Amino acid sequence: SWTTGSVIDEQVAAIREQVGGKRAICGLSGGVDSAVAAALVQKAIGTQLTCVYVDHGLMRKGETEQVEKDFVAATGVQLKVVDAEQRFLDALSGVSDPEEKRKIIGREFIRVFEQAQAEIIAEASATDEPVAFLVQGTLYPDVVESGGGTGTANIKSHHNVGGLPEDIEFELVEPLRQLFKDEVRMVGQELGLPDEIVQRQPFPGPGLGIRIVGEVTKARLDLLREADAIAREELTAAGLDRDIWQCPVVLLADVRSVGVQGDGRTYGHPIVLRPVSSEDAMTADWTRMPYDVLGRVSTRITNEVADVNRVVLDVTSKPPGTIEWE
Ligand code: XMP
Repeated sequence: SWTTGSVIDEQVAAIREQVGGKRAICGLSGGVDSAVAAALVQKAIGTQLTCVYVDHGLMRKGETEQVEKDFVAATGVQLKVVDAEQRFLDALSGVSDPEEKRKIIGREFIRVFEQAQAEIIAEASATDEPVAFLVQGTLYPDVVESGGGTGTANIKSHHNVGGLPEDIEFELVEPLRQLFKDEVRMVGQELGLPDEIVQRQPFPGPGLGIRIVGEVTKARLDLLREADAIAREELTAAGLDRDIWQCPVVLLADVRSVGVQGDGRTYGHPIVLRPVSSEDAMTADWTRMPYDVLGRVSTRITNEVADVNRVVLDVTSKPPGTIEWE
């Protein structure tokens, strides 16, 4: 019968057999899947695994610290953190189009990740343990959706590192291939990962970059991080984390409206709350949230976040609206 303990034992044995004495790399996104996959592989092969976390500066408040401190403390994993905030800000400068933002973020992410990978490979080449494996947090539904097969990944590693082959072929290690999301969370919990990571709601790869309608700047990101942290804090305090699938908080950076605070007229930006209920994110309904919780979020955001003078609620289902605004 299925127990988390037996799944962990089975996977640890399988990973050891697959990887042998070689080395593996795993990219951490801050999400549940990559964290649990990394923790499993770490349990199996210890220091033969190196994790890479690209800090693109588009994460929510506290999330990078969760990976850098709490995840490392819980697993003892070797972690390489790349601070790439300025690089992403530069690349996104002047860009407002959603698809273009996504392309830029995706492209820069791959470049930074590959560079980190190449550095790890170069360091390992001094030893007899080649880096031959790439760990991925592929789940059962992903396997079914993409038609099945296991694979290899071709990584071009030609960025700034001399003496390496142009193409390195990695074999994939995918220890979550037989699991559903709730099972992955149970495995993560059993492995001792922090609740903030294991119970995390979905968050898009491009991060807050696609929750600022308009150009992405450091000041706007900081503002949105504050508003988002307040919303998350109040939803959690109200016990709504399980009822709500996710609640994007969106900054309408290109919109201003008139307000009044104290004796003064303000001309600030609106923040949109987008709480949705969903099974799989393919369709969603807007969550009928308690008014008093909405009221608290609104009061706190307008009081505590400079330059925001209005909070609005998105009451659109998907379809026709997507969950994210971009
Ligand atoms: P939409 O906005 O298409 O979002 O209704 C559906 C779900 O996918 C998430 N999302 C992403 N996740 N990379 C991701 O890893 C992305 O580029 C991305 N875009 C949207 C979104 O948060 C929601 O859960």
